[in-house]
Amino acid sequence: MDRAIILAAGEGTRMKSKKSKVLHSIIDRPIIEYIMDAARESLDDLLVIVGNNEKEFVEKYPDVKTKKQEIGSNIPYGTGYACLLALEEIDDDGDLVVLAGDTPLIKAETIKKLLKTHKENDNSATVLTCEMDNPYGYGRIVRENGKFEKIVEHKDASEEELKIKEINSAIYAFKTGEIKKAIKKLDVDNAQGELYLTDVIGIFSKEGKNISTYKLDPCNKDEIRGINDRIQLSQAEGIMRDRINQAWMKKGVSMQNPSSIFIGKDVEIGTDTSIGQNVSIYGNTKIGENCIIKSNSTIVDSILESDVTIDNSVIEKSYVEEGADIGPFSHLRPNARLGKKVHIGNFVEVKNATMGEGSKAGHLAYVGDTDVGKNVNIGCGAIFVNYDGKFKHRSVVKDNAFIGSNSNIIAPVTVEEEGYIAAGSTITKNVGIGDLSIERAEQKNIKGYVEKKKARDKLKEEKK
Ligand code: UD1
Ligand code: CA
Repeated sequence: MDRAIILAAGEGTRMKSKKSKVLHSIIDRPIIEYIMDAARESLDDLLVIVGNNEKEFVEKYPDVKTKKQEIGSNIPYGTGYACLLALEEIDDDGDLVVLAGDTPLIKAETIKKLLKTHKENDNSATVLTCEMDNPYGYGRIVRENGKFEKIVEHKDASEEELKIKEINSAIYAFKTGEIKKAIKKLDVDNAQGELYLTDVIGIFSKEGKNISTYKLDPCNKDEIRGINDRIQLSQAEGIMRDRINQAWMKKGVSMQNPSSIFIGKDVEIGTDTSIGQNVSIYGNTKIGENCIIKSNSTIVDSILESDVTIDNSVIEKSYVEEGADIGPFSHLRPNARLGKKVHIGNFVEVKNATMGEGSKAGHLAYVGDTDVGKNVNIGCGAIFVNYDGKFKHRSVVKDNAFIGSNSNIIAPVTVEEEGYIAAGSTITKNVGIGDLSIERAEQKNIKGYVEKKKARDKLKEEKK
């Protein structure tokens, strides 16, 4: 079996964070998820080496196999040691791909090509490398008469070696059985006093084993960018954002000012949908064809069918059927379901509620814990009062009912078909089919009131 391991136990001190580096986010998910996805797509099995981030990591990914690397002053450290710990958990057969937890831009297709080169050459080790204009900080690929000999870390390199532009990406393929033997021969005789995984290459080379590089085209060098600080984090996010956005534009999605649009990698979008600036679309969201997502909207874990318009609004964990339109400035909170051609105007909040085909809430309403039928009109300022301070209650409004402006529907209440609620009413009892329900003091008109008031005011003025 061919396996992947991801080294993610490092402390990530340059992030200046209490949170583990690999759990910092790019777009809508932690760095490590991108690498885990690429690993799963290209190999049969995955093991992650975790360090002090073990608890955080395991809570988040209980199904991922992990091995803990203890971090402390009298304990060995380094990529070689992390790999040694991983190998204790792994059988000798097949090949092993080693990935670093801080390189989220690596593509599965590159890992597959690395592994293919590795197998075709029957190599003991194959290193993913790249020519860099500025190789500062990276391990260098040292060749003698063109033959790959070893990797030397920046801190251990001679003047001559520092001039080498070809660098180690920290992504490798190994024959599992062979690295298991070689890893035991590592020592800490280097500038950092660590066990370097890179020294395995020198060991193989001395033993006359087949080793080679798989050189990435320099135009793809972004794939091996490591993240060590928050500046590199934001740069990597920008690259990932462009990659995702460009893929959608190629598939027929329009974007206005794409550098302001952030779309998660698992989102799906139909053709001829257009997206305005400052839009974020995250998580497991599916958007149909011909939708218009206007500026400043945020959509998370939701499904939008085709021909839906969202204007400056927030949609969370909701389902919107064909032809519905929402906003500006409205909010679908979890578990809202809007039927075909539902119209939600401005300043409307819908939560854990359904609205049937053609129903409308044009302005300033709260529709919470309610089942609204078809063609219901919910007036301006209507509130479904769902909470008694301790418990939530549901209401039902059936087809073709009319909820007048500024009414309070105090749940649980059922408004039957064509039930008609007068504006300003506070409704606590069920309303029958086609009945009018009005709950407010009767209007009194007092004849000539203003003239009488003026006379009174005049008297008061004279007395002053
Ligand atoms: C490493 C390579 C270097 C390469 C560079 C590419 C070595 C010795 N050097 O250097 O040749 O050019 O990556 O980015 O491998 N980790 C552990 N346990 C440890 C130490 C590290 O899990 O004890 C993990 C880190 O969390 C990180 C990865 O291994 O995800 C790489 O470690 P890092 O210290 O960043 O290596 P570099 O100095 O960048
Ligand atoms: Ca690094």
